[in-house]
Amino acid sequence: MVLDARERLIVALDLPSVQAAEAMVSRLGETVCFYKIGYQLAYAGGLPFAAGLIAAGKQVFLDLKLHDIGHTVAKGVESVAQLGATFLTVHAYPQTMKAAVEGKAGSTLRILAVTVLTSYDDADLAAAGYDMSVGELAAARAGQARDTGVDGLVCSAEEVANLRGIVGPGMVLVTPGIRPAGTASGDQKRIMTPAKAIQSGADYLVVGRPVVDAHDPKAAAEAIVSEIEKTMGK
Ligand code: C5P
Repeated sequence: MVLDARERLIVALDLPSVQAAEAMVSRLGETVCFYKIGYQLAYAGGLPFAAGLIAAGKQVFLDLKLHDIGHTVAKGVESVAQLGATFLTVHAYPQTMKAAVEGKAGSTLRILAVTVLTSYDDADLAAAGYDMSVGELAAARAGQARDTGVDGLVCSAEEVANLRGIVGPGMVLVTPGIRPAGTASGDQKRIMTPAKAIQSGADYLVVGRPVVDAHDPKAAAEAIVSEIEKTMGK
């Protein structure tokens, strides 16, 4: 899989309405070809909007983080696959991942597993009944994701090198928490610049606020694409 720099930037449309998302997509124009739609927009008309984006030639990552009984997950994934999205997230539970892989059969949809939510620390896992550290659980789930035939993982840029060692070259690694030098970190605690994330082995970078909250979103996105391009050339 050879991607060019532009294809590796995924802009998170964390916006309250389809109207706001449409305005952002139109401002970004040809600079951005891949968008992530999460809970906020998905539950505010974001799914028909996603279908429109796809029809307009953009790629869409639906960050819906599915997790339910296998049958329900498989049927939900079948419906998402018909939308023509490129990526869909599910939680990295073996039953859920297996059902998602079954549900996407015959489509071009790729399933990304979320190993352990980045807001969880060891104490949160203990409170949820797990007798494992975040690192141990993330590594175990990455191995299960690989064995189940999941296409990729969402992970922080800091984890990319370690997880690549577990899953090998065949899975895509998609990393949020990206901050170009000099931009605000917001609530992200583990951040990395686009250049460093690419150097660490990330395939795709998810960037939200540094683009959508920028004074000039198009210029901000162009700067990230050119940083990725320069890094790839090295
Ligand atoms: O605005 P920012 O660049 O921090 O947005 C990052 C996006 O990636 C948000 O949509 C956030 O929900 C998502 N994300 C994340 N960390 C994860 C998984 C998803 O920040 N572990």
